[in-house]
Amino acid sequence: MRVLVTGGAGYIGSVVSAQLLADGHEVVVVDDLSTGYADAVPPGAEFHELPITALDGVLGDWAIDAAIHFAARSLVGESVSEPAMYWRNNVVGTVALLDSLRVYGVDRIVFSSTAATYGDPSEQPIREDAPTRPTSPYGSSKTAIDLALGDYARAYNMSTVSLRYFNVAGALQTTDGTWYGERHAPETHLVPNALRAAAGGGDALSLFGTDYPTPDGTCVRDYIHVVDLGDAHLRALGVGVPGEHHVINLGSGTGYSVRQVLDTVREVTGRDLPVVEVARRAGDPPVLIASNERAEAMLGWTPTRDLRQMVDDAWACARARNAD
Ligand code: UFG
Repeated sequence: MRVLVTGGAGYIGSVVSAQLLADGHEVVVVDDLSTGYADAVPPGAEFHELPITALDGVLGDWAIDAAIHFAARSLVGESVSEPAMYWRNNVVGTVALLDSLRVYGVDRIVFSSTAATYGDPSEQPIREDAPTRPTSPYGSSKTAIDLALGDYARAYNMSTVSLRYFNVAGALQTTDGTWYGERHAPETHLVPNALRAAAGGGDALSLFGTDYPTPDGTCVRDYIHVVDLGDAHLRALGVGVPGEHHVINLGSGTGYSVRQVLDTVREVTGRDLPVVEVARRAGDPPVLIASNERAEAMLGWTPTRDLRQMVDDAWACARARNAD
C-alpha cells in the first residue's frame, strides 16, 4: 500500500512511518516541520515539507491508497492560552486535508485522536461510548475532528478510523540500529522529563499533585508503548468500512501512578531521580484508564510491551542521541 503520513517528522508519525516501511509499504510523509524534525523522517520515506492545507495541487501525482493523519498541535497547556491556534491548525487544517483526500479519491483514513476527548470521565475503564467532554481546546479540536470524520465517512462513503491514544511512551529501534523516539520542545510528558532529571545536569522532576483521590495520591495513567501503538495503526489500515467511522481506544487497561513511573525510571537508569512535589497541574484528571475490548475485537490487538520496556527503550534512545 502507498500510505500518506501527515506529521511523519514527529514522534509517533516517524515511528509509524518506519514500521510501515518495515512492513513493505511505501510511505509519503507530509510535515511542515513546525514541531517535527526532518531527520526523524525514516530513510526510504518520500518527504514533502508542506502544510496539510497545501495538498490540492500535488496529491493527484502521488497515487496514495490510504492516509494516516498525525499532524497536529498537541500541547494541552498551550491550547488553553492559544485556542485559535488549535482550532485553526487542527480543525481547519484537517478539514482542508479531508477535502483534498476526498477530491483525489483517498477514502481510507486513520486518525490520531486522544483520550483527551473524554475529559474527566465518571467511569473507568473508559469505553468508546463514554460521552466526549473535553476539558481543553486541544481535546475539543480532536473531538471536532472525530465528528467530522463521522460526517465525511457517511456522506462521502469514506472509511475512517479514529484511534484514541492514552499515554504513549517508549521508542523504536529499527534493524539498522536507528532510534525513533520522543523529541518535543518544550517537553511536557512524564517519562522523558523523568529520564532527563535522572540523567542529571538539569532540573529536578516536578511532580504535579500528591493529593489526588488515588492509592498513592498521584495521577494514574494508562501507558502504552509507541511500538504497540504503531502496530495498531497498521492493523487499523485494514479494518475500515466504507461509509463508516469507527472509534477505537488504544491503551492497556492497566493504570500506573506517577510515583510508580518514577520508581520504574529509577530502576531502569540506576540513578537518583531528584523530585520536587508541587501543586496540581491545571486540567489533569485523577485517573485515565482505557477499556481495550474494542481494540481487541476490531484490530485483534493487545499491547505486548510493559511500562518497564517503555522506560528501557526511551532511556536507550535518549542515551544513543546524547552519544551522537
Ligand atoms: N507529570 C508530572 N511531571 C511532569 C510531567 C507530567 O508530574 O513533568 C504528571 C502529570 O501531572 C500527569 C502524569 O504525569 O499526572 C502524566 O502526564 P503527561 O503530561 O505525561 O501525560 P497526560 O496524561 O497529561 O497527557 C496525555 C497525552 C495528552 C492528552 C492527555 C489527556 O499525552 O496528549 O493525556 O489527559 F491530551
